[in-house]
Amino acid sequence: MCGIVGYIGKSQAAPILLDGLAKLEYRGYDSAGIAVYDGQEIRKVKSRGRLKILNELTHGGETLPGTVGIGHTRWATHGSPSDINAHPHHNKDGSIVVVHNGIIENYLKLKKKLEGKNYKFVSETDTEVIAHLLDEYYQGNPLQAITKVMHRMEGSYALGILFGDHPDELYAVRKDSPLIVGKTEDGCMIASDVPAILRYTRDVTFVENGEIIRMTKEGMEFFNADQEPVEKISVHIDWDVKAAEKGGFEHFMLKEMYEQPRAVADTFSPRLKEGGIDIGELGMSTEELLKVKKLVIVACGSAYHAGVTAKYIFEGLARIPTETELASEFRYRNPILEEGTLVAVISQSGETADTLAALREAKSKGARVLGIVNAVGSSIAREADSVMYTWAGPEIAVATTKAYSAQLIAIYLLAMKFAFAKGILTGEELAGMLGDLKKLPVQIEMLLNNREKIQRFANRYLAARDVYFIGRGIDYAISMEGSLKLKEISYIHSEAYAAGELKHGTISLIEEGTLVAAVSTQKELYRKMISNITEVRTRGAFVLLVTNEDNTEAEKAADYVIYLPETNPYFTNSLAIIPLQLLSYYVAVGKGCDVDKPRNLAKSVTVE
Ligand code: F6R
Repeated sequence: MCGIVGYIGKSQAAPILLDGLAKLEYRGYDSAGIAVYDGQEIRKVKSRGRLKILNELTHGGETLPGTVGIGHTRWATHGSPSDINAHPHHNKDGSIVVVHNGIIENYLKLKKKLEGKNYKFVSETDTEVIAHLLDEYYQGNPLQAITKVMHRMEGSYALGILFGDHPDELYAVRKDSPLIVGKTEDGCMIASDVPAILRYTRDVTFVENGEIIRMTKEGMEFFNADQEPVEKISVHIDWDVKAAEKGGFEHFMLKEMYEQPRAVADTFSPRLKEGGIDIGELGMSTEELLKVKKLVIVACGSAYHAGVTAKYIFEGLARIPTETELASEFRYRNPILEEGTLVAVISQSGETADTLAALREAKSKGARVLGIVNAVGSSIAREADSVMYTWAGPEIAVATTKAYSAQLIAIYLLAMKFAFAKGILTGEELAGMLGDLKKLPVQIEMLLNNREKIQRFANRYLAARDVYFIGRGIDYAISMEGSLKLKEISYIHSEAYAAGELKHGTISLIEEGTLVAAVSTQKELYRKMISNITEVRTRGAFVLLVTNEDNTEAEKAADYVIYLPETNPYFTNSLAIIPLQLLSYYVAVGKGCDVDKPRNLAKSVTVE
C-alpha cells in the first residue's frame, strides 16, 4: 500500500522524508520518490525499486536541499511499477507537486476532460490527474484549489501537496485513505502511518474524511471542505515502532483481517457504475463475453479455494460450465482447451511459479487468459491477455486473508457480469445483488468485532490434534479455506470434507472430543447438513456450526453456533470465512506459533 510522508520545518527535509519512508517499507512498495522545494523550485527524484536506490540517487538526501518536502512509496495500482509512474507527480510546469495514497475512481473521465484542455499526461497513474486538476483550479489560493478538486474526485485519497509559489506551506487532505499529522520540535509532519513520524513526535492527530491541513514551520491549521476552520485534538502514541507498523494490532495477520472491509469495498466500488458492473479493464466486449462457453480456473492454495467458490457461482448464477484446477496439476496434464474456453488464473502475488506456468500452458494452446491478480505489474498481470486487479493492497502475513476476500469479490463481479450479459439476471435482480454486495464491508466488520467470543472458543482447542471442516456446495469451498488457514498457522492437522462424503471413509476418524467445524449457509441444504452434524456428534464430535440466523435447528443440532448476517446466497463465503480466520488465528496465537511467518512457508512461491 502506498506510503506518504511530508515535512516542513527548520531542518533539512530530504533526510527526514527518506527516514520516514524507510519506516513505511513494511507496507510493501515497488517504487519511491521525494520532492523538496530548494529555494527556487520544487525538485523531484524518483525511482522504481527499493529505497536504497533513492538514497543513492540523492546521497541520503544531501543533493536535495530544502526545508519543505513530500515523499512517497508506491504500490502500483494504475500503471506498472516504473520511474515515470512513481510519485511525486506534477502539473505542467512543475509548480504543483503531489503524492497520493488511494484510488481516484473517476480518473479516466477527468483525464479525458483535461486532455481536451491541452493538459499532457506523462504517466499512466490516476494521481497525475490530481496535479493537473489542481493546476486547472489554482488561482493563487491553495486552499480554494484543493476544495474544488475534492468536489471533482471520486474514490479514496490521502494527499501531500506542495505549491511552488507558497514555499512556506505544506498541504494535506484526506478521504478514505489513512493520514496523520504531527507537530515535531521544529516543524510539522504528515504520514500515512504512525511509524514514519514516531522518531520526531509522539503526539499525533488523525485526519478525518474531508479535512484539509495547512502546515507551516510554526504549526498547522485544519479546515473542512467549506474552508471553515476545524478544531482538532492530538493523541499521545506510546506504541513502539514494531507495534506501530502493525497499527497497534498484535500481528500483521490480524491487521490484515481488519483491513478486509476496505479491501472488499476497494475491489467492488470502482467497478460499480451507473447501476451496473463496469469491467472494461478486461478489454472484452459483451459479444466476446457471450462467446465464453467454458471457464477453466487455475490457481494454488487459497487462490485455488477462491476458484472452487467461483465454480459454484459461475455454474449456478451464470450457467457457464466451470472447472477449477490446481495449477501444479493443470500444467502437466496436457489439458484440452477448446474454442470458447476462457482460462482464469487467480494469484495474489502474480508470481506463483505453477500458476504462471499454467498461464503459459493455456496461452500456448490458444486460450484467452484472464488474470485475477493483486500485485500490479507482476508476471501474471503482464502475461495474461486481460487483467482484473483485486485492490487488497500488499499483504505482509504469509497466510492470506484480505487478498483472498478481495478475490471472492472479483469473482462475484465477473459472475454477475456474465449472468447479466446472458440475460439470466434481470436489471432488478442485479440491483438487488449489488445492494447485498455493498453491505458486505459492514457485515464483515460486525463479524470481526465478534472476535472475543471466537478467541474464548479457540482457547479450548489449543491441544486439538485433528480438526475437520465440513460443508456442502459453496460451503464446502469455504471449509477448504478454513481448514488451510488453521493448518498453516497453528500446525494442527485439519481436513476439509464435502459433508456428504464423510460417511464414505473419513467418519472413522471421528472420536470423542474431535472438533468439527461445520458451515451451513445454503437454506436448501440446512436439513442435509443437520444430518451430517448428527452423524459426527453421535460419534463424539464437538461441533462448531457457522450458519445463518434463520437456521432454527442450529442450536439443537450443534454444540456452539456462530451466526452470520443475511446476504445473497452466492456471497456467503465472504462472511463465513471471517469466524474461520479468527478461529485459526486465535488457536495459533494461543499455541504460541509464529502467526505472521509460519514455518516452512513463503509469501510468494516462485519455485515449483
Ligand atoms: C495460504 C496462502 C497460499 C497462497 C498460494 C498462492 O494462506 O497464502 O496458499 O494462496 O501460495 O499464492 P498466490 O495467490 O500469490 O498465487
